Amino acid sequence: MMGPLPKRQTAMLEKSFKLERLWLSPDPEAHLQAIKDQVVGMVSTFESGASGRLIRALPNLEIIAHYAVGYDNVDLAAAQEKGIVVTHTPDVLTEDTADFAMALVLTVMRRMVEGDLYVRSGQWAKKGDLPLGRSPRGKTMGIVGLGRIGAAIAKRAEAFGMKVIYHNRNKRPDVAYDYYADVHEMAGASDVLMLSCPGGDETKNLVGATVLKALGRKGFVINIARGSVLDEQALIDALQSGQIAGAGLDVYAHEPDVPSALCHLDNVVLQPHQASATKETRAAMAQLVVDNLLGYFEKATVLTPVSS
Ligand code: GLV
Repeated sequence: MMGPLPKRQTAMLEKSFKLERLWLSPDPEAHLQAIKDQVVGMVSTFESGASGRLIRALPNLEIIAHYAVGYDNVDLAAAQEKGIVVTHTPDVLTEDTADFAMALVLTVMRRMVEGDLYVRSGQWAKKGDLPLGRSPRGKTMGIVGLGRIGAAIAKRAEAFGMKVIYHNRNKRPDVAYDYYADVHEMAGASDVLMLSCPGGDETKNLVGATVLKALGRKGFVINIARGSVLDEQALIDALQSGQIAGAGLDVYAHEPDVPSALCHLDNVVLQPHQASATKETRAAMAQLVVDNLLGYFEKATVLTPVSS
């Protein structure tokens, strides 16, 4: 195990496996060397991932059960090379993640974190009302990545009176939202740019200085995807210069390190990568990890393999 699961699911795993908790090891490298021949299954997390080096260091590894939907930090090529099955946790986290994305939109546009600090710090009594926020109603949300989570965000945005448009690798035949093949063009037509696509090489720095410029002075960017999708320095520049109005971020380029420049800006709301972090959803995700591992070793079948 590269990171913790909730207690209940850990206890379930403990009934069938000897668990090695690498993340608690004072010397993970030595620990790994000592157990490497015995390891047949791995639980990886979005923090740890599973690097090619780690995968190759485990000669008897058969399955990686990833405790996240996004698997950009699992080296699929290395796994494939060794015939290792990789599973992840789609669907069960979609609704909570979409709620969180929409909450970020509202928090940023309605200045709720600033408002909270304003009250706590006593500024309300001294300075009067907070500057006005922005209404989502009648605005356009451009969604980068209309997959499972993107589509769930779209439903919520519509419920808040927003128009939805989207950018994907391919146009979806099953949705009526306007499709933009070009992300710059879509940013130009958006008030809120919502990033909900997979991370990895294909989307690295997809949103950079020119896309943010196209989004414009009244535009907001929300990132619940991966830090790699958004050029962090370009975002800092755009926020500092007022080239965009604000941002809501749950993910960063080098988690858990967040550039101090971001922490000093008022027009950004920062969250510690927690869009799926509810007790209910984390239990469901962990249960999928357990079911994939037990399914693999007991019935030679898994529920949610990654589709490569
Ligand atoms: C979290 O970021 C996940 O991919 O599940």
